[in-house]
Amino acid sequence: MVLVRQNTFDEMSRCAADLIAAQLKRKPKSVLGLATGSSPLGVYRRLIELYKAGEIDFSEAFTVNLDEYCGLPATHPESYARFMRENFFDHINVKPENTFIPNGNAADPDAECARYDRLIGWLGGIDLQLLGIGFNGHIGFNEPSEHFIDETHRVKLTRSTLLANGRFFPDGNPPAYAITVGMKAITRAKSVVLIAGEEKFAIVKRAFSGGVTPEIPASILLDHPNATVIYTGEEDIR
Ligand code: GLP
Repeated sequence: MVLVRQNTFDEMSRCAADLIAAQLKRKPKSVLGLATGSSPLGVYRRLIELYKAGEIDFSEAFTVNLDEYCGLPATHPESYARFMRENFFDHINVKPENTFIPNGNAADPDAECARYDRLIGWLGGIDLQLLGIGFNGHIGFNEPSEHFIDETHRVKLTRSTLLANGRFFPDGNPPAYAITVGMKAITRAKSVVLIAGEEKFAIVKRAFSGGVTPEIPASILLDHPNATVIYTGEEDIR
């Protein structure tokens, strides 16, 4: 794993977008693992610019999102399905049928989780996984716990996550549960790019200056052979 420090959110976003653009140029049929939240917004804006400038092409790419809230229809303003359409998919030439997001509204969440893992396997795994990081060190919605969970699973969101994500909901209350890919899909990705703005500096420092622990899920990337953590802050982490 390598740590790359950038001075601004824009530089961080460009740096991550360049890695994704390079991946797409190398392999147009790439399977891109995508993230939501405020962190990747600059990356998506930059990728849209590169697409509009004719520098990259998503026509053969596949996308697999990390997670989705349970109980929100795909049309809900705060569903991650809608977030992805509005902030990315509607502005590039990815085929809608090649974009995948867990169905948080599935009648049988366990079956949906199993289906999602089969889907990722059928796609041949993820070529490049883009990640943000929660204030508690979560990646996707893999929350701090006593052990890592390998498979896609339904998770009860922690208080820290509910508080952090409440800002996006008019009543301040996000759904209490979500479906998230597990650690296997993330760690088996051929490359991983994690982005973290200045407000995440403290957790980035904790996650990547100690050892691997499920209490800080992002720390699992310490062992990844091709992970790049792009963070913003005034000092180097190590
Ligand atoms: C959410 C998402 C994560 C994301 C995290 C950080 O909980 N499930 O994938 O990385 O929040 O979000 P933000 O970038 O808005 O701080």
